[in-house]
Amino acid sequence: MKSLSKASKQLIQLHVNGETHDAVVRSADTLLIALREQLGLTGAKRACENGDCGACTVLVNGKSSHSCLSLAVEVVNQPITTIEGLLDSPVSKAFVDNWAIQCGYCTPGFIVNCHSLITTHPNADDQLVEEWLQSNICRCTGYEEIREAVHTLLASGQKENE
Ligand code: FES
Ligand code: FES
Repeated sequence: MKSLSKASKQLIQLHVNGETHDAVVRSADTLLIALREQLGLTGAKRACENGDCGACTVLVNGKSSHSCLSLAVEVVNQPITTIEGLLDSPVSKAFVDNWAIQCGYCTPGFIVNCHSLITTHPNADDQLVEEWLQSNICRCTGYEEIREAVHTLLASGQKENE
């Protein structure tokens, strides 16, 4: 990490979607700001910026994380996955197949969070799915289709393992 000026900007490296990127950030810049404004990865959305809505969700070290709550300088050596790294994922396909998208603003956050659910809890029961989905808010209220996409994926994964 290299300090660039008195305004305390620093050059850092972020490991995103399998690639290393340079970013010049202030110490108070969130990961969300760095992704959007320095790396041009605008899939993670800026909404509440308070940890309440999940629109900014990314994976840090494989775990679902609200990027509006992490400082960019805190995640320099950690692998980060954004929606841009999951475009061809089974979860993205399931959202399309189940019409789980309306305006789309919440969709990247939901897909990243659901990818985390499916990979860490392939045998998740209904209660866990409900709890998991509470991390994200959809203003268009398309929860039924989102639930359907998740249950379809879980069922197909469980079938493959039978
Ligand atoms: S913008 Fe991060 S949780 Fe809402
Ligand atoms: S699809 Fe519009 S906010 Fe969720």
